[in-house]
Amino acid sequence: MNQPEQPDILLQIAMRVEAMPIIEQWSLTAHGKIDSALPAELWRGRAHGRQIALVIHGCDATYHCDQIGTETATIVAFLALRCTRAKLLLNAGTCGGFQSQGAHIGDAYMPTRFFFHDQRVDLDLFRAFGIGDRSIADRPSARHAAQAKIGTCSTGSSLDVTASELALFARESVTCKDMEAAAIVRVAHDLDTPFVAVKVVTDLVDHPEPVATAFVRNLAVARARLAVAIDAVVAAL
Ligand code: ADE
Repeated sequence: MNQPEQPDILLQIAMRVEAMPIIEQWSLTAHGKIDSALPAELWRGRAHGRQIALVIHGCDATYHCDQIGTETATIVAFLALRCTRAKLLLNAGTCGGFQSQGAHIGDAYMPTRFFFHDQRVDLDLFRAFGIGDRSIADRPSARHAAQAKIGTCSTGSSLDVTASELALFARESVTCKDMEAAAIVRVAHDLDTPFVAVKVVTDLVDHPEPVATAFVRNLAVARARLAVAIDAVVAAL
């Protein structure tokens, strides 16, 4: 059997609901699982003259929800890059934003700095590894095409936030809080693959409304905005 064409871009999206508008707008076709032991699903197609692969984390068989978070993000990024040999990895998804940084619901960001806010290892040898601070090149033409802002993304394993994390976000001028990007950029770095992230704000971390309430209310708007931003970014990359 012929090897499928090497994708120019591999999109990694944690939640099916975030991915579906993108899959539909480009009429991508389902290509099964990336590994028989994982629920992660691969889609393929073309957009703007580019060969596209898209992987979603898939539905957990025990808990019946998308396998969000850093553990699945790492294994899916690694396996999907290995099996597709994509030239660039693009993590797309939603995030918490910050009104103190001028964010509004539905704003798109293309961060250039990523770290973990909840991997605290107070040992000299491991402190920096836990934080996992990495920067990538800005893509100004793609960012302008998507009307996205530049920023800093902090990744952790909780939807809510602690007081010490809020202080860290303010100190580091964090613009996006998510649950995957810092894990994925680490894999992209290890596999020497260029990385881009596009994040759309569903909730404001430094607002009194509970995150979960805002997230559920704003998800439809954010995922539609994400599809528009991704289309513009892929056309301009
Ligand atoms: N995804 C969307 N909103 C988020 C938040 N506040 N924290 C982490 N991930 C998110």
